[in-house]
Amino acid sequence: MLSTIMIVAACASCIAAVPVTKSTDGFSIPIVHTPLEIRDPLAAMFKIYQRYGEGLELPEELLPYAEQQNQKRDVSTVVAKPTARDVEYWCPVLIGDDTLQLNFDTGSSTLWTFSSDTPPSQRGSHRLYTPGKTSVEQTGQTWSVSYADGSKASGKVYYDSVKVGSISVPYQAVQAATSVSGGFISNAPIDGLFGLGFAKLNNIKPTRSPTWFANAMDKLTLGVFTADLRPGTAGAYTFGFINSSRHTGSITYQPLHSTAASRGWWLVDATKGYKICDQAFQDSTGGAAGAVFDTGSTLLMMSDEIVKNYYKKVTASQFAANRGGWIYPCAAKLPDFYVPVGSTYAKIEGKHMTYTKLDTQGRTCFGSLQTLGEKNKNLPYIYGDILFKANYVVFDMKNERIGFAPKRS
Ligand SMILES: *[C@@H]1O[C@H](CO)[C@@H](O)[C@H](O)[C@H]1NC(C)=O
Repeated sequence: MLSTIMIVAACASCIAAVPVTKSTDGFSIPIVHTPLEIRDPLAAMFKIYQRYGEGLELPEELLPYAEQQNQKRDVSTVVAKPTARDVEYWCPVLIGDDTLQLNFDTGSSTLWTFSSDTPPSQRGSHRLYTPGKTSVEQTGQTWSVSYADGSKASGKVYYDSVKVGSISVPYQAVQAATSVSGGFISNAPIDGLFGLGFAKLNNIKPTRSPTWFANAMDKLTLGVFTADLRPGTAGAYTFGFINSSRHTGSITYQPLHSTAASRGWWLVDATKGYKICDQAFQDSTGGAAGAVFDTGSTLLMMSDEIVKNYYKKVTASQFAANRGGWIYPCAAKLPDFYVPVGSTYAKIEGKHMTYTKLDTQGRTCFGSLQTLGEKNKNLPYIYGDILFKANYVVFDMKNERIGFAPKRS
């Protein structure tokens, strides 16, 4: 709401300020593309009033700006808990009057939940979002999603207030399921998805909706959120600030890939190659599609060539199709692995490179690094939760970059 007012006020002033080019057919007005440039004149004006305006009345067009400045201090932390075997991580979210447990997913951009619109036979043991006093149904808006494993969900759309930690967005699109099938129903304790990707990936039709984070960004001290996921225990997401006691050293930033926003992913360049222990390798077959920082995926997924080369260094490892991927005796020592991120690497220590034991005696283990397969060689690499267990990651939407630093344990 506030930002709409802002843009109207800002545009009125910027149109007045830019030259109008006349031509025989009519006239055109140059358009300023970046929101920052649009805001700057107002910021400068506001500063003058802050310095010299004591006792003066603020001009009306600066009121929304003043209001925004006053609100621009919000930061928040929310606990992220893993499900069994760290398959997914969830955080509590307050939607209207209901608290749900949602999978915070940087690889998608929908906020969907089980709801009172979901038929009782499809609710499983999930918490429900019940649209109430603060909700406004968006008639004509629908959504649907289906996954490779055959699970599906679809439904309608409400606007409602959505609060994460201490930060509330009053008009957030909430996608309430009217039909759910397959694995979603049995997937307790997760009641839906909380997308943190770019708007491009939102699946509301006919009109896409911004994510909660995009809506909250103007209220935040910094236009960032951070992920700190931990093996088998609670970690955290922060919004609007970087908690420097959660990492060591300084944060390395890399720009997003030029197609990141148009594809909707937190995508980085991945052409640098990779390292196993201290040995660097070129990536001869892949990397051109980039790599996605995806908290909604569990593992690291890369090309067959890289994966084979890594497991060459692991004693008695083998690809076991019947177990779903690369396995090895749990006694093996896994080397450190470095994945490409722009002009540098993110390190994943060997201790994170085992995803799970496959038997209670701990004889056979399943690796964190698995192959995308020949069929998917044009897909970006996927850096899932394994990377976030080793690194504190900053998703900087404002500056279109990703930052990371080793985790403080
Ligand atoms: C920052 O992280 C530390 C260590 O995990 C924690 O104790 C502290 O409460 C966090 N600060 C905020 C403001 O969340």
